[in-house]
Amino acid sequence: MNNRHSKNRLQFKITFYIVLLVALIINSVGWFLYFAARHYFDEELGKKLISIAHFAAESIEPDLLVYLKPGDENGEFYGSIQVQLQKFDANFNLTHSYLINPDFKMLVDSKQDGEIGSSVVHLQPHLLELQAALQGNARYTVLYQGNDNIYYKSAFAPLQTKDNTITAICCVDASPEFLQVLVKIKNSILFINSISFVIAVILSFFLAKSIVNPIRKLVTASERMSQGELTRPVEISSRDEIGYLGMVFNSMQEAIRLQHEKLQNRIEEKERLAYLGELSAAVAHEIRNPLNSIELYMGLLQRQINPPAEVASNIVKIHKEIQSLNAIVTSFLKFARQPELVLTKVLLSDLVQESLFLASKDLKEKDIEVRVNLGKKDVTLNADANQLKQALLNVILNAIQSMPQSGTLAINVHNIEENNFILLQISDTGCGISKDNLDKLFQPFFSTRNRGTGLGLAIVKNIVEAHHGIVFVDSEEKKGTTISLKLPMEKA
Ligand SMILES: Nc1ncnc2c1ncn2[C@@H]1O[C@H](COP(=O)(O)OP(=O)(O)OP(=O)(O)O)[C@@H](O)[C@H]1O
Ligand SMILES: [Mg+2]
Repeated sequence: MNNRHSKNRLQFKITFYIVLLVALIINSVGWFLYFAARHYFDEELGKKLISIAHFAAESIEPDLLVYLKPGDENGEFYGSIQVQLQKFDANFNLTHSYLINPDFKMLVDSKQDGEIGSSVVHLQPHLLELQAALQGNARYTVLYQGNDNIYYKSAFAPLQTKDNTITAICCVDASPEFLQVLVKIKNSILFINSISFVIAVILSFFLAKSIVNPIRKLVTASERMSQGELTRPVEISSRDEIGYLGMVFNSMQEAIRLQHEKLQNRIEEKERLAYLGELSAAVAHEIRNPLNSIELYMGLLQRQINPPAEVASNIVKIHKEIQSLNAIVTSFLKFARQPELVLTKVLLSDLVQESLFLASKDLKEKDIEVRVNLGKKDVTLNADANQLKQALLNVILNAIQSMPQSGTLAINVHNIEENNFILLQISDTGCGISKDNLDKLFQPFFSTRNRGTGLGLAIVKNIVEAHHGIVFVDSEEKKGTTISLKLPMEKA
């Protein structure tokens, strides 16, 4: 199923359900009103017919009716009652009125064709109502269809003598006019139905379009997003839930874009570092061999020529420079090689003490006070002792270098047990780091020192990250710096 098809399906569904709903409402209301009206009119007509039948029954003398015999149709008595009935027909718009005896046989008919004693066929279905009339209760029938297919309604009222004998039943038939009104109502309902159907189709089509269009835009944007395009936001054209969805979509896209950018930067940074590493390794190798030869020949020369004191001191200086160059080459190689860890259980206190020992000469020279606080209990790390010591030493040396004349070096360990890591903080009261430089601190070859390689902190970062830790810095210019190493703790 293609997308366009499925999108149209939603529009079709919305249109269909709205039209269905409208049709349902209009039909149920329409037909309810129709049947309520029909019931009301029917009942009213029934009551009216009963009144007419009563009225007719009371206006006819009941006692003499029992004497009417077949063949009396042309008699004076019969004729007078017939005329009376015909007047009722005319006055009350009846289709027919007649009297029947208690055996339900014709007595007097307003029309000419009902002979005395003949059966009245169309009364057959109304025996119940006729029985009630014989008990003295007037009744009306339900609507029924005559032989001519026209609807009729009848009412029956008893004719009673003074001693309460029922001598005849007065029957009145009427063709209800309200049926024509009902037909009109029915036609109106059908008409309203078709008009509202058309209107519902048109309106719901546009409504569905207004709902589906923004969704389509979102779908298109999602498709674009899935193809990696993260810069085009969806246009928000409404302030409803769909508009809100669009806003959420846009902020989600922006978040993904930023995340993507970050990831991209990280990958580029990694690639750059890898390239720098290769370069450093290559340079270090090229330099290391001639450097070793120079050192060797210097030693030979010193022994061969047995130099005077002044020359000897220069040779010592050259020797020192060679050593310093060697140290640089070593840094290059350390940085270039991704640290391969040899993990053992290491006591953090040992690491700190050994690193401080390695830096003790410089600390003493500069008269730097050292404060160590290792926390409540000594922490064991699962770490490469040499590498971690190297990292710690680099940080300590930086701290010492930031304090030209005395100061305080503080080493604090915070043991954050619930999160299972330790925070090793090395603080100094040195020159601090400018805001501009803070971001560049861990970049390889960034250095503000004359003889610095700028690899110290890059190596620290490599080592700490290899231990699944992170390193971060807090610094205020002229006040001091704190370098924090967050390292996972060995689980107890
Ligand atoms: N504790 C500190 N106080 C002030 N500045 C610092 C501190 N630690 C690092 N820096 C700054 O960060 C820079 C980079 O430090 P990093 O250790 O990487 O290189 P370096 O010390 O310059 O050279 P190397 O460590 O290779 O001898 C330093 O040159 C210095 O400007
Ligand atoms: Mg350094």
